[in-house]
Amino acid sequence: MIKAITGTKDILPIDIPKWRYLENTVISTMTRFNYKEIRTPVFEETSLFARGIGEATDIVSKEMYTFIDRSGTSVTLKPEMTAGVVRAFIEHSLDKKQSLNKLFYISPMFRQERPQAGRYRQFHQFGAEALGSNDPILDAEIIIIAYDIFKQLGLKNLSVKINSLGVPESREKYKNILREYLDKYFNDLTAESRKRFDTNILRIFDSKEGQDQKIMENAPLLIEHLDTESLEHFEKVKQALLSAHVPFEIDPKLVRGLDYYTHTTFEIVSGSVGSQSALCGGGRYNLLVKELGGGDVPGVGFASGIERVLLACENEKSFSLSEEKIDLYIVTLDKELNGFSYTTAIELRRHGITVELDYLSRSVKAQMREANKLNARFVLMVGGEEFKQNQILLKNMANGEQINFEKSDMNKIISLLKEN
Ligand code: HAM
Repeated sequence: MIKAITGTKDILPIDIPKWRYLENTVISTMTRFNYKEIRTPVFEETSLFARGIGEATDIVSKEMYTFIDRSGTSVTLKPEMTAGVVRAFIEHSLDKKQSLNKLFYISPMFRQERPQAGRYRQFHQFGAEALGSNDPILDAEIIIIAYDIFKQLGLKNLSVKINSLGVPESREKYKNILREYLDKYFNDLTAESRKRFDTNILRIFDSKEGQDQKIMENAPLLIEHLDTESLEHFEKVKQALLSAHVPFEIDPKLVRGLDYYTHTTFEIVSGSVGSQSALCGGGRYNLLVKELGGGDVPGVGFASGIERVLLACENEKSFSLSEEKIDLYIVTLDKELNGFSYTTAIELRRHGITVELDYLSRSVKAQMREANKLNARFVLMVGGEEFKQNQILLKNMANGEQINFEKSDMNKIISLLKEN
């Protein structure tokens, strides 16, 4: 039997209402903050991600689904959205039409990571990118959008962690200071961290290995070596969060796994989902548009993993949805009347009413059972003595009330179903 590929998951009809609820919460929140939806292709030229995210990152060096297509082009299934959104922004000169572009998305992503709870190879993100302003208020807005969405989903066990990576000049200076410090402990670092020493030294802060963590405990911190402009920017972000009543903590070791960040970085972590606890991550990226061939346009954004958020919601039982219902089930008493039931169903559906009927030649009893299983609010009985007298019977399943209608009087039935 052919099974779904490791790390991918079917989202079955039973789970769809949760997904829709989350997606609707995302769409309504983004709309209130005036973000417009953007959809970009599932695959892009590989070089977009290599340049955008950074060759030395785990995503680019280990996790991308990359292949050569039949025309010899190296393409990659998108591991994240920011690079694709920036590519589209440049390609369509969106800044010519609007000086600040506030965009959001909901889309599948692909990373060949080791699957575990909350970590998949095809997963889904929602996120936002604001392109065109360096205002620290926007950094805060991005964090608030994510936080508000989680709150609306009923989540409680949340920590907002923020940090600043400053500008490249102060970061480069700091990297030398860190290099000097780590030089002394080089031989005590794990092999992975020794590799990062040359390729991506900040990421040593992310190591989960005890021997690395012990060394990093006393490492000099970037936040202590930021330039004045970066510190002022960071201060304004903090003030904006405080005035929006978003609780946060400063995590000077939060470095993030993508190379494009400048200034603010953040993650919102849940205490309800085990080791894959980052519900979202993001930050400012003032050099990415230029890096990808566009103008000098600053940006800031975030992305959140839907599977992880839903896992947190499930573990916290943070929301419950009412049972799905249909408006009407048509029970056909005589087989010869199947045609009447069919045309009635079509007509009522065209009037916006959710209707189901029997396709399996079931007995009347089995049709009634089906109506109950589908939580039908009303049942229409087609056939029997009533039908011979041009009548059909509508039964209200909530209170048992039965009303007879002339079978030609569909408009009355439609009004009643719509009113109730
Ligand atoms: P990221 O931290 O790589 O950032 O991913 C954002 C979120 O996607 C994570 O916090 C997590 O919830 C979810 N996620 C990542 N990998 C997986 C996976 N394998 N399985 C399930 N969920 C996952 C970015 O993607 C950046 N583009 C965020 C951003 C936007 N920065 C600025 N703008």
